[in-house]
Amino acid sequence: MKAIAKTRPEPGVEIIEVPEPAVRAGHVKIKLEAASVCGTDLHIYNWDAWSASRIKPPRIIGHEFCGTIVEVGDGVTERSVGDFVASESHIVCGHCLQCRMGQAHVCVNTQILGVDVDGGFASHAVIPWENARPTPKTVSPLIAAFQDALGNAVHTAYSGPIEGCNILVTGMGPIGQFAVSVCKAAGANAVYATEISEYRADIARQVGADRVFNPTSEDVVGELNRLHPGGIDGVLEMSGHPSQLSLACNVVRPGGRISLLGVYANNEQSIPVNDLIFKGIDIHAIVGRRLWDTWDQMSALLEGGKLMLEPVVTHVMHFTQFQEAMELMKAGKAGKVVFTFEE
Ligand SMILES: NC(=O)c1ccc[n+]([C@@H]2O[C@H](COP(=O)([O-])OP(=O)(O)OC[C@H]3O[C@@H](n4cnc5c(N)ncnc54)[C@H](O)[C@@H]3O)[C@@H](O)[C@H]2O)c1
Ligand SMILES: [Zn+2]
Ligand SMILES: [Zn+2]
Repeated sequence: MKAIAKTRPEPGVEIIEVPEPAVRAGHVKIKLEAASVCGTDLHIYNWDAWSASRIKPPRIIGHEFCGTIVEVGDGVTERSVGDFVASESHIVCGHCLQCRMGQAHVCVNTQILGVDVDGGFASHAVIPWENARPTPKTVSPLIAAFQDALGNAVHTAYSGPIEGCNILVTGMGPIGQFAVSVCKAAGANAVYATEISEYRADIARQVGADRVFNPTSEDVVGELNRLHPGGIDGVLEMSGHPSQLSLACNVVRPGGRISLLGVYANNEQSIPVNDLIFKGIDIHAIVGRRLWDTWDQMSALLEGGKLMLEPVVTHVMHFTQFQEAMELMKAGKAGKVVFTFEE
């Protein structure tokens, strides 16, 4: 089969020809229908310091994908041939303290598909059965593929109240766009967004943002104070830009929450801690998806049919056009790039 792989410890990825992976105990074999490109794939493509320290080539990349189970390994009782499934990228150990306490999203032995083990940018993939999440067949493969990323948005949004709330989502990358859609579907009163790229701001409007502010040309604090003098109930920080962390601290109402998903270039950030204490703010640090509550919440949202996700899918292309996909991502001229796998 053909697969997209990092073959050497240097920038770039290439198409390689490898044998189809054989199913093994506790695993399922999936025939791919669609896959999507994540910011992490771009890091690996660029071979930044993180990927250089973590990835051992040759490695088939890709951790957001969906398809049909074509074989199940020994001992697998809860998945069957024919099931439509999507990937959860975190493979967890099931026996560390966190796993035992229902906090497997911070399992200390986490391995990531397409990073630590072979991923899904290939016609077939073999993954642990639990990582193959059953998905309603009514969901298009072009959407089912990116549930790993959508799950980041669901996890962040659902870490605090949404219904009837005024929410601000900062940074309209694909995950911020998903978060806007999730908050609208979950009954937020108003959902505001910030973004510096007009291309991405436009997608945010299409998925339901009531207003998108450009922090470089607008007085966001002033505007939000005028709209909601009491402050914003919940801020979801998804830009990874320090200015938006400050904005969050500034506009959140006393007793509100700030949920942080964005990752900053610098580990150390300055925030007005005493203000946050005296305002009684809940601050959540969010990683991955809760296993498996986030997936159950996401299934309910997808089945409810209220999520507006199509505008985020800006490009659909055959997986062999991966070079073009990576360049689009690099240029920031894409929402989600989704790969298809027809022969
Ligand atoms: N915690 C986790 O488990 C986890 C998982 C996936 C992604 N992430 C992080 O979440 C964030 C969102 O992911 P993504 O894939 O959507 O990333 P992305 O880089 O595509 O999106 C970030 C967006 O923020 C915008 N932005 C940058 N500076 C801004 C500013 N000053 N004001 C407003 N917007 C600004 C960018 O233009 C971009 O559209 C990233 O920081 C990513 O690293 C975290
Ligand atoms: Zn990802
Ligand atoms: Zn564990």
